Amino acid sequence: MILPYCEPYKIKTIETIRQSTRQEREEWMKNASYNMFNLKSEQVFIDLLTDSGTGAMSDRQWGAIMTGDESYAGASSYFRLKEAIRDITGFEYFLPTHQGRAAENVLFSVLVKEGDIIPGNAHFDTTKGHIEFRKAKAVDCTVSWARDITNRDPFKGNADLGHLEQVLKDTPREKLGCIVMTVTNNTAGGQPVSMANLRGVRDLADRYGVLLVIDSARFAENAWFIKTREEGYTDKSIREITREMFSYADAMTMSSKKDAIVNIGGFIGMKDRELFRKASTFNIMFEGYITYGGMSGRDMNALAQGLYEGTEFDYLSARIGQVTRLGEKLHAAGVPVQMPIGGHAIFIDAGKFYPQIPASEFPAQRLAVEIYLEGGIRGTEIGTLMADRDPVTRGNRYPELELVRLAIPRRVYTDNHMDYVAAAVQNVWEGRETVRRGLAIRWEAPIMRHFTVELDLLG
Ligand SMILES: Cc1ncc(COP(=O)(O)O)c(C=O)c1O
Repeated sequence: MILPYCEPYKIKTIETIRQSTRQEREEWMKNASYNMFNLKSEQVFIDLLTDSGTGAMSDRQWGAIMTGDESYAGASSYFRLKEAIRDITGFEYFLPTHQGRAAENVLFSVLVKEGDIIPGNAHFDTTKGHIEFRKAKAVDCTVSWARDITNRDPFKGNADLGHLEQVLKDTPREKLGCIVMTVTNNTAGGQPVSMANLRGVRDLADRYGVLLVIDSARFAENAWFIKTREEGYTDKSIREITREMFSYADAMTMSSKKDAIVNIGGFIGMKDRELFRKASTFNIMFEGYITYGGMSGRDMNALAQGLYEGTEFDYLSARIGQVTRLGEKLHAAGVPVQMPIGGHAIFIDAGKFYPQIPASEFPAQRLAVEIYLEGGIRGTEIGTLMADRDPVTRGNRYPELELVRLAIPRRVYTDNHMDYVAAAVQNVWEGRETVRRGLAIRWEAPIMRHFTVELDLLG
């Protein structure tokens, strides 16, 4: 018999979570204006809002916290982190930031200006936010079949190289800020990007004289998919693969809250000293001095350790194995989920779940609400709410897919928790025809509205 995946760690401490009644949840949800971000964490039983910053640190990471060097400049923690980043990514220059979007803010202050075009595979919402805030445009060149949830292409996070080249061809050189490749492709369902695709994008970047930035939040999960799915990589270690992935980029932005398994932190990796120097000025202005940039010494220590733990093959097999197991269960029950299952989350197609609800009534948000009411499980909408308004016309942008994301925190929940989630979602699936309407916006912010939006239930 083939032995199943198994966590390469055991549990040393636990945190109590509390069940609630449906009546309690109905009241809490209403008071939260049907916005998942407004719920208090104690009102949630299983929190799948995000896999960002929600992972469980190891005893070694906690140990590293105790030996953090809090010197303002030149702390040993900074050098420890620099060494880990060089080892795992190959980048010679780096700047610490307090999280991923801060890395975007600093790097884009150098690379992106008004009127620029920033193509790539699908940009994450904060990435797009930082591009649009600078009055530049993000162009999504993800392969079209990523939007077909039944398509089983092993690398549905890839950029369509033909589309990308067309954008590069059509844009004057001075308006090409950079290309951004997000690995894994979160917006397209946590789908991986192949090495061949990264190589192809690098080739285009060279031909059109534009920089390539990798948005790296889930770079280790991406490397696991390359190792297990792409020809020629089976015998390579995860770190050999990550170094090759980053060798194709000029710079990387990192939200360390994902694959580096820390609760806060980020960084920018760069090849070129000039770019590092320019970015340093913005880092000092927005984040902090270049050897701490928004992070404490202890947090840099935990991050350095987390980068090594997050790039262990056995750990990644257990982590992605757990996500796949939940996804396969839902798929077997008939729930329309994005296939193949991605690295960090299950994506449920709310358009297929509730075809009776028009996109203008946010069917995915309605589904997230129903899953919460059923089991106290908090997921998040990745649909019309998150797609926000067109900055020019101010009309809703309607993405092709209305998704609910159930993101699985790293090393936090057991497979029993996942079975509970599967049962709750199946119950909502069975009652899908009883839900008739979606939600309407009562109040929204001018940009990134989904975080703070207030909604009314339409019935
Ligand atoms: C692909 C991607 N890029 C960037 C970010 C932003 O990182 P942070 O939340 O650390 O600011 C995220 C966060 O979820 C992400 O998934």
